[in-house]
Amino acid sequence: MERVGVVGCGLMGSGIAEIVARAGANVMIVEQDAEAMARGRERIEKSLSRAVAAGKVPEDEANRALANMLFSVDYADLWDRQLVIEAVAENEEIKLAVFRKIDAEVKDPDALLATNTSSIPIIKLAMVTKRPEHVIGMHFFNPVPVLKLVELISSLLTSPETSARVRAYATDTLKKRVITSPDRAGFVVNALLIPYLLSAVRMLESGFASAEDIDTGMVVGCAHPMGPLALTDLIGLDTTLAVAESLYEEFKEPHLAPPPLLSRMNQAGLLGRKTGQGFYSYKS
Ligand code: 3HC
Repeated sequence: MERVGVVGCGLMGSGIAEIVARAGANVMIVEQDAEAMARGRERIEKSLSRAVAAGKVPEDEANRALANMLFSVDYADLWDRQLVIEAVAENEEIKLAVFRKIDAEVKDPDALLATNTSSIPIIKLAMVTKRPEHVIGMHFFNPVPVLKLVELISSLLTSPETSARVRAYATDTLKKRVITSPDRAGFVVNALLIPYLLSAVRMLESGFASAEDIDTGMVVGCAHPMGPLALTDLIGLDTTLAVAESLYEEFKEPHLAPPPLLSRMNQAGLLGRKTGQGFYSYKS
């Protein structure tokens, strides 16, 4: 994979573009407008300079990675890509529209189309393309440059060759650990993680415990790197809500239904770190 495309340069897309470029590929990053593109570029530059300052990434590797990245607002610039990884907002309508556009522009008949969706069935995205056998789920974890896991999700129509090629790329080139999941809402990790986060929101909402005590309990008592409410702020309350809705739609179990507080905070635009306010404040 020498020519990779990444569509969407938000929290996840910027991390994916960073590691793909560091691994040596030329990356075409497509965003919806110039403003989103500038924000994405800045996020990548900040992440790389922090990694260089911490001695995690040699400076020449960071410079090479930046030189390997191209930014565009035109899907036609994906025409020569061998792999395109979609990482736009977790919204089915948006992702379906983006997949139609990617499929229309990518010319190589062997090119692979991957989605970083957290919960949308891979088959739904595959079916709006002319190449469902080349469509696969490639689910990364935030922060992408730090967390080693990738979930691979084949749909009922993904070919074994597609799965083998993406697995080899994730493990050998990106140096990630791969687990496989069936094409079910939430896949493996979010099917476990999201009900836990929703339980924490319900605990807070019912007055059972304070946000600080809930988080301290899990950090100090269970050695989690961060508590569930801080983690929800990191993931984004919009993404957490979207995954909860997908899980509830698929399984109809009450514990998967988003609690009202999560919905109200979404409606208020309190989405966590990305907006500066969630369960905690991130305004400096
Ligand atoms: N490249 C390489 N290394 C980097 C880096 C980069 N761009 N940026 C940071 N690092 C290194 C740092 O130098 C640091 O190294 P060290 O541990 O040796 O000092 C390490 O990565 C951690 O980085 P931070 O400085 O940001 O350190 P923190 O200690 O504050 O950790 C955290 C922050 C990594 C977010 C940690 O709290 C954590 O792992 N939290 C849990 C996150 C989690 O669960 N994510 C999954 C969410 S679910 C998801 O994403 C799926 C979706 O579908 C919902």
